Amino acid sequence: MAAVLKLDEFNLLDDGECDARIAAAKALLGDRLCILGHHYQRNEVFRHADFSGDSLKLSQMAAKTEAEFIVFCGVHFMAEVADIVTHGQRSVILPDLAAGCSMADMANLAKVEKCWAELAEVLDPDEAVTPVTYINSAADLKAFCGRHGGIVCTSSNARAVLEWSFARREKVLFFPDQHLGRNTAYGMGIGLDEMIVWDFNKPMGGNTPEAIRAAKMILWKGFCSVHQMFQPAHIKHFRERVPQGKVISHPENAFEVCQNSDFVGSTEYILRTVRASEPGAHWLVGTELNLVNRLADEMREKDVTVEFMSPTVCMCSTMFRTDPQHLAWTLDNLVAGKVVNQIRVPAAVAEPARAALDLMLEVVD
Ligand code: 13P
Ligand code: SF4
Repeated sequence: MAAVLKLDEFNLLDDGECDARIAAAKALLGDRLCILGHHYQRNEVFRHADFSGDSLKLSQMAAKTEAEFIVFCGVHFMAEVADIVTHGQRSVILPDLAAGCSMADMANLAKVEKCWAELAEVLDPDEAVTPVTYINSAADLKAFCGRHGGIVCTSSNARAVLEWSFARREKVLFFPDQHLGRNTAYGMGIGLDEMIVWDFNKPMGGNTPEAIRAAKMILWKGFCSVHQMFQPAHIKHFRERVPQGKVISHPENAFEVCQNSDFVGSTEYILRTVRASEPGAHWLVGTELNLVNRLADEMREKDVTVEFMSPTVCMCSTMFRTDPQHLAWTLDNLVAGKVVNQIRVPAAVAEPARAALDLMLEVVD
């Protein structure tokens, strides 16, 4: 067998050449390989996915597949989840190790442990606070939740997870995305005056002991750099231009954007809702550009118009890192018997993280 080209050499190949190599490698690997693709992946990569979905659906697909190799066309935390839910029995591969999530990076174990210790100066957090981590977080934060009676959520089950949490303890510490936490809690009837923001760069998160005691939701001051681009003004202009149009947004958007939207939900929910619309419908969609462009192309044939919410191009630059060159390099190595870019979560972290993930899967079932 010919030696596999180096990554630098793959980077010189054009997309067409990589496409052919990916198809050939998939044919050779057959059932040994499962490619998972998040909805934000670019077309040139997305078309090779065996399964696509939002974070929840992809974690369920990962848990189900019997393939030896799971190549995750998504971001780092998703590949970690795949390794955790498969008990390390598959080789989970992230084609470009630099494909992270800037929101996930806004929380880390040291900062969350500092927050927990500071909360302990005011109350007993293990009695009073359920830590809830959005799945967009590092494995050690999921493990933190597992060790402290907490749980994981995704954008599609955050409400069920918060209901579960409030049935057990009076408060929730929600990280890293303040917006998903705020939007979900508000939808459950929790007032904005019952929520505080935890600024992880300030002592006590910038809060007084009284404010901490009074709060139901403690929202980590994290956000998604892509979704923060969408503004209520974009919705206002759309409604003036297309009064009969509908607006649908991801819950990582700011409170005002979600409040001004007709529908709010995960990427999978957005696709399902728009696909179910009647000919002549007109949508404004507040989520990542690759998803919106693909959906617009698909729906054009059904006489449904789909517009991107922002006038500027904003896409997830880390999702975009997975290109046909990295995917072809990864697969050619697998064909040659070499696993590159494997994501492996150490057992000491994976076990408590799995406990928090399993709880989430029980709550949503
Ligand atoms: P979904 O789980 O809705 O696909 O969201 C993942 C994500 O990172 C959105 O920015
Ligand atoms: Fe992370 Fe935002 Fe990219 Fe989603 S869109 S992966 S939250 S940076």
